[in-house]
Amino acid sequence: MSGFLNRLILRTVSWFFPHLSLRLKASPFFMRYLPQLFLNNRAWASQQTCQDPEFFERLCAIQKPELLWIGCADSRVPANEIVGLPSGELFVHRNVGNIVRRDDQNCLSVLQYAVDILQTTHIIVCGHYHCGGIQAAFGPCTQDPLEGWIATIRAIRQTHADELAALVDDDARWQRLCELNVLAQVGVLSTLPTVVRAWERGQPLAIHGWIYDLRNGLLRDLEVSINANQPG
Ligand code: CO
Repeated sequence: MSGFLNRLILRTVSWFFPHLSLRLKASPFFMRYLPQLFLNNRAWASQQTCQDPEFFERLCAIQKPELLWIGCADSRVPANEIVGLPSGELFVHRNVGNIVRRDDQNCLSVLQYAVDILQTTHIIVCGHYHCGGIQAAFGPCTQDPLEGWIATIRAIRQTHADELAALVDDDARWQRLCELNVLAQVGVLSTLPTVVRAWERGQPLAIHGWIYDLRNGLLRDLEVSINANQPG
């Protein structure tokens, strides 16, 4: 039944956007690459079940991750993989430049769900060196949607203009802004109502700022952790 409905929806979409449907059908990429993903998925699911027959049953029954990860959308920074955690142990929010904005309903909703419902005890903001989102904040302004998003990073760059100007070259400025951005997002998080209310009611909750190095796969703690309930 759902297959029939899906085909009906697709047919309706292709009626309104015939060029899109034709392009998808004609694309060799679409025909060759995506079916492989389903094969990969079957192999993965069967491997999980072999290693742990109750793996999926347990995941379905409960989700109780201790950690909320706020990271960059960059494909080279896969959250679970780089910290060696399996499914069910990391609640993840990713966007371009690992930004936390007060007007971003998406991020605020993830945060609220993590803190109020899942009761996560740690929030990790993880940036990474050589971040394209950060690099864009050094470039010229554009009319693209990304411009509105990275306005936050441009503002951080402006705030730290003197420090950045004193660095040896553009690459050093880029990498330092990757760090400064993490620090700024940790600061924003610590003032958001969801976090402040959790601290007020004594809920254990710490915020951390980390950075990932694409060149060697290593994480570094920027040592800006905040835990209102355990000062010092
Ligand atoms: Co990035």
